[in-house]
Amino acid sequence: MNAEEQVQAPGRVVVVGSLNMDLVVRAPCLPQPGQTLTGTRFVTAPGGKGANQAVAAARLGAQVSMIGCVGDDPNGRALRQALLDDAIDCEGVRILPDVPTGVALITVEEAGQNTIVIVAGANGELATEHVDAMEQALLGAQVVVCQLEVPEAVVGHTLARARALGKTVVLNPAPAAGPLPAQWLPWVDYLVPNESEAQLLSGVPVAGRDGAEAAAQALLQRGAGKVLLTLGEAGALLAGPEGVQHFPAYQVSAVDATAAGDTFIGAFAAALAQGCAEVEAIRFAQQAAALSVTREGAQPSIPDRQQVLAWPW
Ligand code: RIB
Repeated sequence: MNAEEQVQAPGRVVVVGSLNMDLVVRAPCLPQPGQTLTGTRFVTAPGGKGANQAVAAARLGAQVSMIGCVGDDPNGRALRQALLDDAIDCEGVRILPDVPTGVALITVEEAGQNTIVIVAGANGELATEHVDAMEQALLGAQVVVCQLEVPEAVVGHTLARARALGKTVVLNPAPAAGPLPAQWLPWVDYLVPNESEAQLLSGVPVAGRDGAEAAAQALLQRGAGKVLLTLGEAGALLAGPEGVQHFPAYQVSAVDATAAGDTFIGAFAAALAQGCAEVEAIRFAQQAAALSVTREGAQPSIPDRQQVLAWPW
């Protein structure tokens, strides 16, 4: 099935992860330690790696359930509503009292590169019981997606449960702070790091294509089913038991790279859930991510399926 035919077969994706309100400043460059910069613009917009991936999967054709936590505050209500606006099932998005919604402080420079500092807030309160309460959603999904902005115990629990249920398990190890628990990778069908995450997790310097392949091989040896390494302007690399395949990037004029990786992962998950072949799913994900970098913000930048298919690639 190719990307055009997917509309006949909507698949289901469950995303377990974070919801953040993004506080974004545009600046001529990224600040150095001790430096005060004058920014050019400030916006708030819905974000969080989990929520961004859920929105991407939904806009790109999947039926999506989100599992996460927000605080009982205006940011939390706005983030939940943003997901509902994209027809995402929010039964699993808990509204917790006495804890603030997660936030992300983001600086974006002129060429579109960013720095991000997150404060977990309610994301840090997500518990394994919240995932267990959404067993029906897990059962109905083809693909389950996790990242690392919620407690490690919840990620490990979800990966194990999704694997036991026979789901396709996608782990985006972001933000990576250190090695992953050794038992995780055998539960993962697709580990999807970026260059810096791959380097940190594998201990192999990701410089050039040889370095990227070596890092991906090291992660495969630790048990991941396949490693789908995103390389920004250098495209993506898929490493698995059959070998390594490189996917060149689509060239676009970058405005803001925020959530490009999330768009890639959400699109990839949506395409897989709809029965798309792996190579087609990767190309579709690359196209969606390429379009997202031509627009500002996290969720506001994520294209829908028609926009991706209509773009003159
Ligand atoms: O990947 C981009 C996201 O990272 C932002 O939306 C921010 O909230 C952080 O989670």
